[in-house]
Amino acid sequence: MNSTPDNPSSRHQVVIIGAGPSGLLLGSLLHRAGIDALILEARSPDYVLGRIRAGVLEQGTVDVLTRAGVDERLRSEGLPHDGFALCVDGEVLRIDLKALTGGKTVTVYGQTEVTRDLMDQRRAVGAASVYEAADVAIHDIDCPNPFVTYVKDGVTHRVSCDIVVGCDGFHGISRRTVADKGLETFERTYPFGWLGILADVPPCSHELIYVAHERGFALCSMRSPHRSRYYVQCDLSDDVRNWSDDRFWDELRRRVGPAVADHVVTGPSIEKSIAPLRSFVAEPLRFGRLFLVGDAAHIVPPTGAKGLNLAVSDVQYLSSALEEFFLERSSAGIDHYSAQALDRIWKAERFSWSMTTLLHRFDSYSPFEKRMQRAEFALLRSSQAAQSVMAENYVGLPI
Ligand code: APR
Ligand code: PHB
Repeated sequence: MNSTPDNPSSRHQVVIIGAGPSGLLLGSLLHRAGIDALILEARSPDYVLGRIRAGVLEQGTVDVLTRAGVDERLRSEGLPHDGFALCVDGEVLRIDLKALTGGKTVTVYGQTEVTRDLMDQRRAVGAASVYEAADVAIHDIDCPNPFVTYVKDGVTHRVSCDIVVGCDGFHGISRRTVADKGLETFERTYPFGWLGILADVPPCSHELIYVAHERGFALCSMRSPHRSRYYVQCDLSDDVRNWSDDRFWDELRRRVGPAVADHVVTGPSIEKSIAPLRSFVAEPLRFGRLFLVGDAAHIVPPTGAKGLNLAVSDVQYLSSALEEFFLERSSAGIDHYSAQALDRIWKAERFSWSMTTLLHRFDSYSPFEKRMQRAEFALLRSSQAAQSVMAENYVGLPI
């Protein structure tokens, strides 16, 4: 390392921008392979851990987390789920994931906990991370020696490297850096949001329940046997301040119907927020020495619980490609990364879009479109083949 007090500079094989689950998991897998990566994160560790997101892990995700060595708490605290329920206009259909997929299941374990486990591991192994790094900028990605600059405590740092990975989420700078370099984007925004609450009350059911009701979608989920996560579809223009806890519980109960409502245990919310729903894909995922991963490259509406799982498959593909690049001196993997990841991303986008379309109330829908929603559910109820397709996608397509 070459540094002066005024203009510190350093060198790492890889610079990862963003310490969300994508950046931390990639950092972990590279560290295990003996590849040296620096992570630059704009926020503080507490801020990163304060974000509440979904919590359903595919078996493939659990396998990658196991390979990364962060599966201990996940195995003791994660809740295996063999199925989930769809409740459409009062009719219930259980999707038996295990039976329909030849034994596959999902694990309910909060994304915040995955992030915490990865952070703890990174701290324990002493791998390099800079939190509260401001003004991160990426330079010379078309050259074999790109570099990244950032400001920490008022001092500008320069990090040279071989590879830069943008794991900086939907609002990060990596994708913006290549906006005029042939990046193509595909997007759908949905005309509603999800109002979610977290409460320290036992879940109303041991499995997740996805509800389609004339008043709008609802979801009954959980983080543990003592902590529940519930959502109701709301207007995009709505404000969380309009929703007292009592109003939320009343609305949830109306949508889930009397049989489930009887089991909803209410209590004070410990978090309450509104999130918009979006489908988004950027192509390609490689620009010279810069690679896009996770939410920096794609967003799915949360209905299929695919966001984190898709980030993990990107990371798996890119980490093996980078192992090939650094340890075997072969570019074959990094040349293939974009096409390989996009193939799986588009299938997950399709699934998330179809679950969203099936289960939400669309005010703009014509009578024909409403009948199509109903026919889709009727097909699911009557066709094991249709249920198998749903189950196969929910437990996760092969990585
Ligand atoms: N410089 C450095 N860090 C940045 C910058 C920047 N300019 N911009 C954003 N970041 C950081 C954010 O503060 C955040 O911690 O990048 C991180 C990105 O993390 P996530 O948004 O969690 O994205 P990712 O790691 O890809 O996680 C994917 O998160 O949103 C869910 O559904 C998604 O579950 C999926 C998972
Ligand atoms: C959640 O528990 O937050 C959750 C679960 C399943 C989803 C979305 C969110 O599809």
